[in-house]
Amino acid sequence: KRIVILISGRGSNMQSIVEACAAEGWAADVVAVLSNKPDAAGLAWAAERGIATGVVDHRAHAERADFDAALAAAVDAHAPDLVLLAGFMRVLTDGFVQRYAGRLINIHPSLLPAFPGLHTHRRALEAGCHLAGASVHFVTPTLDHGPLIAQAAVPVMPEDTPERLAARVLVAEHRLYPMAVRWAVDDALTLTDDGHVTQRENA
Ligand code: GRF
Repeated sequence: KRIVILISGRGSNMQSIVEACAAEGWAADVVAVLSNKPDAAGLAWAAERGIATGVVDHRAHAERADFDAALAAAVDAHAPDLVLLAGFMRVLTDGFVQRYAGRLINIHPSLLPAFPGLHTHRRALEAGCHLAGASVHFVTPTLDHGPLIAQAAVPVMPEDTPERLAARVLVAEHRLYPMAVRWAVDDALTLTDDGHVTQRENA
């Protein structure tokens, strides 16, 4: 399977997938890492490993639809089976999402459906949550609302700041996202009629 990963910054989730793919011998390759930001640190990391990289700068496109068309062209150039959003901080148009229906996956740093959108850790602390976490889901046109593939929970500690909580969730993300992507690579995921995801037991 051919995997394209979209990032906007550090790219630590992208790194966790590249490393798991190599270490676990997935029947897959990360064929490209693309960013909407030219200075995304993850691009240099990927390039050093010989992975194709590219930039589709959202600032060069006045309309969201134009940016998404350029992004789709860049993605399609790598003929991906799976497109992964990993800290990709642009909202995508319905057209883009539908183009990759069933093969577009995102990780979000909250226990969805709680806290879609930004500032998840601050909002979890403000709400007095005792658990926080991360969710991997298929992307649908509604932001952070697609069918859930896997979730991981971490405790909220009394002295937590958004930054401390984010760091604890990120450790969980780096286990969770590769696990979920591997299920997709192994064709172990099924979308049920009620819009939920089931995972084959022995995957
Ligand atoms: C992660 O917490 C991800 O869930 C969120 O933004 C962060 C990106 O981190 N959407 P990285 O770029 O993968 O290091």
